Amino acid sequence: MLVESLSPSNLVIETMLQHKSIRKYSDQVPSDETIEAIVRAGQQAPFASQYYSILLSRNMKRNPFKAPLLFTICVDSHKFEKIMARRRWKLVASDVVLLFFGIQDASYMAENMVTAARSMGLGSCFLGSAMFRADKIAKEYQLPRRVFPFVQLAMGYPAEDPPPRPRYPLEFTLFEDKYPDLTPKIVSKAMKQMDEGYLAQDYYRKVNAKIPLQGERKETFTYDNYSWTEHICRKWGQWYSDPKELLKQLKKRGFEISERTK
Ligand SMILES: Cc1cc2nc3c(=O)[nH]c(=O)nc-3n(C[C@H](O)[C@H](O)[C@H](O)COP(=O)(O)O)c2cc1C
Repeated sequence: MLVESLSPSNLVIETMLQHKSIRKYSDQVPSDETIEAIVRAGQQAPFASQYYSILLSRNMKRNPFKAPLLFTICVDSHKFEKIMARRRWKLVASDVVLLFFGIQDASYMAENMVTAARSMGLGSCFLGSAMFRADKIAKEYQLPRRVFPFVQLAMGYPAEDPPPRPRYPLEFTLFEDKYPDLTPKIVSKAMKQMDEGYLAQDYYRKVNAKIPLQGERKETFTYDNYSWTEHICRKWGQWYSDPKELLKQLKKRGFEISERTK
């Protein structure tokens, strides 16, 4: 049985366990060498087919959180199709499969960048809205067809030092040999760990981020008891029920998830 408190540790693990998203940055501009080291570390992540590209903006004034660096992580079929054309092959794999693999390739790469950055004293924060603004990002960076920006990563030297955010207990995450019966006790423990952890940090009050209720439900929560599980339920219980906008963005960029690409 794994015991969390007795886990072995080293600098890499410590760096990972100290991860926290950073939303305030100093004006200090990371050097080209630092950026290169971070992206190279990112690239060295395992890949299925390096099916991604990374865009960079150093426009601190315009970047979210006024971050010195903004990376936009894209699934990139365009450059892969160039290689296929050179070898006189044509892509027949479904875009659904390509997107699953491409998002994995790009995500492992991006998380490597987060850890590499952290090891050099930089902080970062992912921004998930890119996929809904893919057309605008494409225009800005003059992206060719079949390049789809799906997440952004703000980065720079931190001007805040929040505590690490809680995670589920290991027993709610790692299931050895068999998926367990998630008893009310196990679920309650996981919810408690998350909710009490966020409340102890007064997280949602500080960021003033209570999601308003839509429909019949009456608001009964204050920032004294509004926490992570309520927040995440309001998000996935109210938003994004209609995939049309995302499908539209994918289609505009040349990805068709309902048919084979010929
Ligand atoms: C795919 C993805 C999208 C995210 N989008 C946002 C975002 O739009 N705004 C934001 O402030 N944080 C965003 N985050 C950061 C998460 O809020 C953060 O990782 C999570 O709350 C856990 O906190 P921690 O990273 O400090 O441990 C995103 C993270 C991921 C992985």
